[in-house]
Formats: sequence, C-alpha cells, structure tokens
Amino acid sequence: MKRNYKTAVFYGTSSGNTKKVASQIAAAFGVDTPVFDIEFAKASDLERYDFLIFGTPTWGLGDLQYDWEKFLTHFDLGMLRLKVVALFGLGDQANYPESFLDGLGLLYGRIHDKTTIIGQWPADEYAFRNSKALVNGKLVGLGLDEDNEVSQTAVRIEAWCNSLKNALLMQ
Ligand SMILES: Cc1cc2nc3c(=O)[nH]c(=O)nc-3n(C[C@H](O)[C@H](O)[C@H](O)COP(=O)(O)O)c2cc1C
Repeated sequence: MKRNYKTAVFYGTSSGNTKKVASQIAAAFGVDTPVFDIEFAKASDLERYDFLIFGTPTWGLGDLQYDWEKFLTHFDLGMLRLKVVALFGLGDQANYPESFLDGLGLLYGRIHDKTTIIGQWPADEYAFRNSKALVNGKLVGLGLDEDNEVSQTAVRIEAWCNSLKNALLMQ
C-alpha cells in the first residue's frame, strides 16, 4: 500500500451471516481491522477511516438490507468523496437466481458516483440468471453465498483481500 489506509468493515445483517463474514474479512485484511454493525454506526465512525469495506445481504425479493437502507437515508454521501470503498454481498443463488446479490448492486448504485470503488469480482463461478450486482460483466464486489457455498467463503475472502491490498497500491 502506498500509504497507510486506515481501514474498517461496516456490515448490515438480518440473520447473522454477514456479521460472521465481516469478521472473517476483517481478520483476513489485517489484525486490527475494526468491524461495525451499520445498525448502530454513526457518520463519525465512517469519517475516521480512509478505506471502507461495506457488506450487505439481499432480503425480500432483491432488496437492500434494512439497516443499510435506514443508514443511507440520513447519511451524507458527500463524505465518501475522499475515501476508497470496497463492497461485499451475501445472497442465495439457488433460491433467488433472479435477484442474486441485488442488495450488493443497490448499495453500489447508491454510492458509485460519490467515491472510488475497488474490489470488483468475477461472476462466472456463480449460477444465477439476474443480478443488479453485475456491471460490465463483473460483480461490483465480492459475492458470498452462505446458503449454498459456505465451503468457498474462506478462499474467496483470502483472494479478495489480497486483490484489495494490490488495488490500494495503485490508488
Ligand atoms: C426471505 C428471504 C429473502 C431473500 N432474498 C434474497 C434475494 O432476493 N437475493 C439473494 O441473493 N438472496 C436472498 N436471500 C438470501 C440472504 O441474502 C442470505 O441468506 C444471506 O446470507 C442473509 O444474510 P444475513 O444473515 O446477514 O441477513 C433471502 C433470504 C431470505 C430468508
């Protein structure tokens, strides 16, 4: 990394999977990476960091997780201008192949023109029909499927965190 990016992970969760994965990502990224539940996070928690890793599952039929939705309605997105952001999403490709990882895509849609986003991820190893997270043939962030592919999670996280560190070198 060119400079020392102060990094933190922020996640929303409704049944706990994204919380668990957020801790795995923080551990893979670096020993002291803090993890915040977006339900309780304040804007000042985000302000303190240069590199923000945001994680969300998809709920409903292609909805952004509730706490992210709530947070984004009152959060001043202009604050992200000088930050670097990476995104990860959780979904279920077997039961929701028409809206796989849509929450990840919706989160991207809300912030992509306000900040620098790194960490795009290949889509070819997942089986789905439609996803709002698919932009220019790639997922806008790391896709994880704790419902069907839990055995892939650790290896995907490891590879993604390495790619993030390399991408930060280029910033
Ligand atoms: C009622 C319900 C709706 C869901 N809708 C979607 C969906 O539209 N697309 C998707 O990819 N996953 C969907 N999922 C799967 C969740 O995103 C997945 O289980 C995720 O790991 C939950 O994360 P959480 O425990 O952090 O809330 C849905 C799950 C449930 C139970």
